[in-house]
Amino acid sequence: MGLLSRARSGRRGGLVRGTAASLDGRSGAADLRGALAAVREDVTAARHRDPASTSDLQVLLTSPGLHAIWSHRLAHRLWGAGRAGRLPALLLAQATRSVTGVEIHPGAHIGRRFFIDHGMGVVIGETAEVGDDVMLYHGATLGGRSMERTKRHPTVGDGVVIGAGARVLGPVAIGDEAQVGANAVVVADVPAHATAVGVPARVRRERAHPEELVDPAIWI
Ligand SMILES: CC(C)(COP(=O)(O)OP(=O)(O)OC[C@H]1O[C@@H](n2cnc3c(N)ncnc32)[C@H](O)[C@@H]1OP(=O)(O)O)[C@@H](O)C(=O)NCCC(=O)NCCS
Repeated sequence: MGLLSRARSGRRGGLVRGTAASLDGRSGAADLRGALAAVREDVTAARHRDPASTSDLQVLLTSPGLHAIWSHRLAHRLWGAGRAGRLPALLLAQATRSVTGVEIHPGAHIGRRFFIDHGMGVVIGETAEVGDDVMLYHGATLGGRSMERTKRHPTVGDGVVIGAGARVLGPVAIGDEAQVGANAVVVADVPAHATAVGVPARVRRERAHPEELVDPAIWI
């Protein structure tokens, strides 16, 4: 089930569910094991997506996008822990921004194996929701268009790629496995498996859903 369907049915997966469990009193050791497993899968995902990477250690030590998401996970837990956690969460997010150039509001929900290549200039707003296996390039923004204290940032499905400098603005939905081109400005929903480019972004092409691809063997 993709993020968009999970959001509609009120279910949240992955790290968000893990966070809730740990706030309910899951043991510190289990927490640590979970965090290490998440780091491991992040590094593996980054190596798949960055052809310039040379080793797990190099990715672990030199990827600002990974450092930003690891810090965000802590900030998100602080944010979710109640009023007392809010200021520390924001301070941590600010410190992370200074070091990595990536600004993620601690309230943003981000899924597993999230990777930001190059890091610098990425902004993700408070009410953004991002699925699993999403990749952003530098300068991408998941921003708002309204000053109202309501859901005002995008919902990004699983497996989405958002190109360098792209702006996705407002409570729009980017469907699973969609691609947003570099420097696009997205102000309307993008269907699953589509590629959207330009300003304002238009769907250039909708790729076939893998399940819809017909096995050529059936014609033989
Ligand atoms: C949008 C994108 C995902 C499409 O990739 P693709 O599926 O391989 O598609 P193609 O390259 O075949 O392009 C399809 C069409 O969209 C156009 N196009 C591609 N990217 C575009 C962009 N960012 N803005 C405007 N038009 C774009 C192409 O010119 C082509 O047009 P045509 O059909 O008239 O020839 C890709 O071009 C892109 O922008 N990726 C982001 C990569 C990035 O940010 N890299 C930073 C590395 S540091």
